[in-house]
Amino acid sequence: MPILASNSVEFISHSPEQTRRLGLRLGTLLDVADLICLAGDMGAGKTTFVQGLAQGWGSIDSVSSPTYVLVNQYRNPVHDVLHHMDCYRLMSAAEAWDLDMDVMLEQGALVIEWPDKIREVLPNECIWVELSWVDEEKRKFMFHATGRHYEELLTSFRKSAFGG
Ligand SMILES: Nc1ncnc2c1ncn2[C@@H]1O[C@H](COP(=O)(O)OP(=O)(O)OP(=O)(O)O)[C@@H](O)[C@H]1O
Ligand SMILES: [Mg+2]
Repeated sequence: MPILASNSVEFISHSPEQTRRLGLRLGTLLDVADLICLAGDMGAGKTTFVQGLAQGWGSIDSVSSPTYVLVNQYRNPVHDVLHHMDCYRLMSAAEAWDLDMDVMLEQGALVIEWPDKIREVLPNECIWVELSWVDEEKRKFMFHATGRHYEELLTSFRKSAFGG
């Protein structure tokens, strides 16, 4: 697992299960107002990663792809909501803003698939993940943190996922 810089981590997943475990590690660390952006082609594993993320968050709801509904909400019995947004079908970044992203971030955490489609309206700071297809069962994950808060989050994630 090469560590490229203090604000980046690369990881190769060898199975959907491993991708879910990785998501779970990050999900347990998430708090209200945290933003995670998942960029990558169709079938790269974004929704699979969110399945683990929601589990780590403590969701009592199961994850499904919000491609058509645009936003799903997963509840956590203790407190907040994890919002799962899919921008694939959005025609403009303004449409995403109309979905009240700011309110979503006040109420809970937010994870976005196809964030590259709405770059103009995204907050500057987040954890940005680039997923790419390596082969049938292998996917490459590049995690990149912007801003102090997310750099700290990524450091905790790295420790939790790799023990170092
Ligand atoms: N290592 C892996 N990690 C994640 N998914 C994998 C892996 N190996 C195989 N897969 C398979 O790849 C597919 C990933 O689908 P998924 O819906 O998560 O992709 P997506 O990035 O959300 O696509 P879309 O852009 O269409 O929403 C699943 O069928 C999953 O089982
Ligand atoms: Mg998806």
